[in-house]
Amino acid sequence: MIGVFDSGIGGLTLLFELQKAMPNEEFMYYADTDNVPYSYKTPNQIKTFVEDAVLFLHQQGCGLVVLACNTATNVAIAYLREQYTFPIVAIQPAVKLAADHNHDHKRILSCATPITLSSVRYQQLLDKLGVRTMVDNLPLPKLVEFAENENFDSAEVLAYLKTEFSHFALENYQFIVLGCTHFTFFEALIETNFPPLKTLDGNAGTAKRVAYILEEEHLAAPTATANPSVTFYESGRLVQNPARFLRFLERLKVDI
Ligand code: DGL
Repeated sequence: MIGVFDSGIGGLTLLFELQKAMPNEEFMYYADTDNVPYSYKTPNQIKTFVEDAVLFLHQQGCGLVVLACNTATNVAIAYLREQYTFPIVAIQPAVKLAADHNHDHKRILSCATPITLSSVRYQQLLDKLGVRTMVDNLPLPKLVEFAENENFDSAEVLAYLKTEFSHFALENYQFIVLGCTHFTFFEALIETNFPPLKTLDGNAGTAKRVAYILEEEHLAAPTATANPSVTFYESGRLVQNPARFLRFLERLKVDI
């Protein structure tokens, strides 16, 4: 069983890719609904929330846990890997993917939460990849709130993005990195309204990594389960009626 963690519904965009890559696996999805959005919390608070959730998922029987939250990764993954030996796979903003495909040498717009963009881990990633001079960072914390409120394509969202993007000459960019799992819900809106931006996220790459580690660690489901399921939790409480989560997952089938 694979545990998937996010502060809210953003990690469903990664769960969607995980289900495609590993159709036989069962999943537990943990949304920290009580504390979303993490942008207004301190790193120490976030570390505690993430550790509690990861341990909860492990205790429920998840042999592998995925941090489907870039903010959680950048605040907590180093600490978690020091503390625990079970595999924890973490998503990161896909700046490497963007740089690898940036054949026209355009600028890259990297969007995430303010906590991710200012984190030491993310800043070190830019240096390690040698992309610092070609990347412009743009925090878009309100997209997390819009997504949580199921506000995906209203005039309000569009106006917010127009204001935020107005500081950049978009014709100088090809790729926009969606470095927060909530942002993937806005992929179509961004590509339709802000040409020539093409969106990239780390979801498919992370799913591939999870599939690889599952095999390596002999944690893959031994036989095909008839109806592989997802059990949903909100801040440690079992969700009896997951209609809201399922609706978001359905939305991804249409959008992506
Ligand atoms: N989905 C989280 C991420 O990938 C959003 C964090 C939040 O603001 O709650 O960063």
